Amino acid sequence: MESIDFFTLARALHVVRVVLWIGGVAFVTTILIPALKTKIKADQRLDLFELLEGRFAFQAKVVTVITGATGFYMLYVLDGWERYLQPQFWWIHLMTAVWLIFTIVLFILEPLFLHNWFHNQATKDSKNAFVWLHRMHKILLSLSLLTVFAAVAGSHGFSF
Ligand code: HEM
Repeated sequence: MESIDFFTLARALHVVRVVLWIGGVAFVTTILIPALKTKIKADQRLDLFELLEGRFAFQAKVVTVITGATGFYMLYVLDGWERYLQPQFWWIHLMTAVWLIFTIVLFILEPLFLHNWFHNQATKDSKNAFVWLHRMHKILLSLSLLTVFAAVAGSHGFSF
């Protein structure tokens, strides 16, 4: 009997996590925040956002850990650490950078100060705070989608 191909399983799990994670970011960016900005009164907006985004943030934390674990596991199996020193593996750098940004935001900045800072801004000037929030989400979503594109193209042999 052939041995189980853990690398392929890790890759499949990695992609499922990425779909769940970036899909959530896409929902928040293209549906939730625009609806809050236009359809919900300023005095209810923050409560609703904190309720919904709070639940998503927990899911995002779990997914971020599994995406990182499966990603580093694949690099370990490939013995591919030196890829970080090779410019043709720019898509590995991009994946790791996006993962790092989300990890820092979710595990460090959010609990330390971002949550309270946004709460205060939105209490003072809801319209402005949500415009800023939307902009940040658009940047993160664009970077994430670019990364998925680059990871699939790069790992299937595309190079400049
Ligand atoms: C610590 C962070 C990460 C590491 C170390 C990592 C590492 C890897 C590795 C080693 C592969 C397989 C490459 C190969 O077969 O040569 C892979 C595949 C992939 N990664 Fe990541 N990754 C990370 C984060 C991410 C993130 C944040 C995204 C998306 C935003 C992502 C999207 C993908 C996709 C879509 C594939 C599959 C490509 C395919 O098989 O078609 N990864 N990753």
